[in-house]
Amino acid sequence: MLLELKNISKAFSGVQVLHDMNIDIKKGEVHVLLGENGAGKSTIIKIITGAYQKDTGELKWKGENLVINKPSDAINAGIGTIYQELNLIPELSIAENIFLGHEKKRSGKFSLLDRSTMKNEAKQLMERLGQDVDPDELIQNLGVGQQQLVEIAKALSLNCELIIMDEPTSSLSEREAEQLLVTIERLKKQGMTIIYISHRLEEIKRISDRITILRDGSKIRTVDTAATSIDEMIALMVGRSLDNKFPKIQFEKGKEVFSVKNVKLTPDAPEINFSAYQGEILGISGLVGAGRTELARALFGADPIYSGEVFVFGEKQHIRNPIDAIKAGLAFISENRKEEGLFLDQSLTFNKTITKLNKVKSKGLINVRKQKEVAEKYIKDLSIRPNNINLFVKYFSGGNQQKVVIAKWLFTDAKVFIFDEPTRGIDVGAKVEVYKLMNSLVEEGAGVIVISSELPEILGISDRIIVMHEGKITANLNRDEANQEVIMKAATGGCS
Ligand SMILES: Nc1ncnc2c1ncn2[C@@H]1O[C@H](COP(=O)(O)OP(=O)(O)OP(=O)(O)O)[C@@H](O)[C@H]1O
Ligand SMILES: [Mg+2]
Repeated sequence: MLLELKNISKAFSGVQVLHDMNIDIKKGEVHVLLGENGAGKSTIIKIITGAYQKDTGELKWKGENLVINKPSDAINAGIGTIYQELNLIPELSIAENIFLGHEKKRSGKFSLLDRSTMKNEAKQLMERLGQDVDPDELIQNLGVGQQQLVEIAKALSLNCELIIMDEPTSSLSEREAEQLLVTIERLKKQGMTIIYISHRLEEIKRISDRITILRDGSKIRTVDTAATSIDEMIALMVGRSLDNKFPKIQFEKGKEVFSVKNVKLTPDAPEINFSAYQGEILGISGLVGAGRTELARALFGADPIYSGEVFVFGEKQHIRNPIDAIKAGLAFISENRKEEGLFLDQSLTFNKTITKLNKVKSKGLINVRKQKEVAEKYIKDLSIRPNNINLFVKYFSGGNQQKVVIAKWLFTDAKVFIFDEPTRGIDVGAKVEVYKLMNSLVEEGAGVIVISSELPEILGISDRIIVMHEGKITANLNRDEANQEVIMKAATGGCS
């Protein structure tokens, strides 16, 4: 055993978040923590890495007691962590970032940095991860996927024996995610031990040796991955079997709700034309970087449009900023919840009602009781946990924060909803809740547009799918014409 968690418990202001947790991590294994949003996965990690203090229990490292009071204790023991928000400095090079805080000095000469050794070692560390890079390259010139690999290289440079990754693929494109999975397989061959958290069951099945399933802060069981099907994982995780991952309802196609005519984002950009109708979910597929988020942001007035027109229920709209967009009946549920979607230092109630304060105002004042009612309704509808409307949003688990973003926009009574990667970081059970919500929006006559990089999701929920490649629409497919191959072909510009 490399790491043992023994009877670990943790409560936040009286709410028990971890109950008597016992988990063993074997040397050389990829061990997954699996559980619904709010199950306690990130809290366990934060206790191991010294970000939080446990209330009771103990940690053992190679059989010895391990005391972790602060993050440097974990690093000194040999535990490295790759967080979802990367901690690199964009203006510095790969080598400088890897050795930041533990720079190599030339022997004898006090405080002179040994740049060439650091560069060489950085290059070798990246090679261990299968990356042939120039160590002088600045971080800001790398994609998110490669940046993450630099974080891993940094952990290797610190001689970590255990690397912990909390939802590392949730912000990556398919290709980058694949690269990370290959890197993990490579590290495992080199003898590295990895604790891995993800909501993507296929990748868990592929890379892990064992899975510990958590529910509501308690350990349910540790299973061998090879002997466990994805359906079993789901059943253990949510406590029941999930018969339909995509609860699609067919509605009659109605009026045109939203239409984009000859829109260009820049003078040289391709013209974009598409419409969304009542009664359908319009999916927008494409590889990360295909220009879908840029388009959505521009349509919502967050970025300028160079030329073209936008119509809501046939009426031409003049959208110069998000306020105009909200007035025109648009809602944009952004993929970037931390930066754009939420006021983290505010309560759930505040976040939910901020987009439409008029609805909870009476005589010019905010009606707190009404605000509270609204928040409680959405907590119930989206099964947001914990059901505490006064808790600051930053204390919610990642997936539950995403649900708050969605609730915030549902509250606006918009006519057209544009969802950008809506289920990123959301567990399988909650995904179904989100899809059901989309169904009810369609049923109520709203336009629903969903941008997603996950092909099974796009195929599972859309009635029609447009595919983008390099800022251009390369396909417009009905549900019965669409499959993974056709979409991938259009997403890569026709050459698969
Ligand atoms: N600092 C805090 N104060 C209060 N409650 C907290 C705090 N940190 C976490 N919690 C609560 O602890 C519970 C477990 O959260 P945690 O982040 O560990 O969940 P998770 O399993 O990582 O979920 P997700 O899959 O959504 O990331 C949640 O109910 C969360 O709201
Ligand atoms: Mg988490």
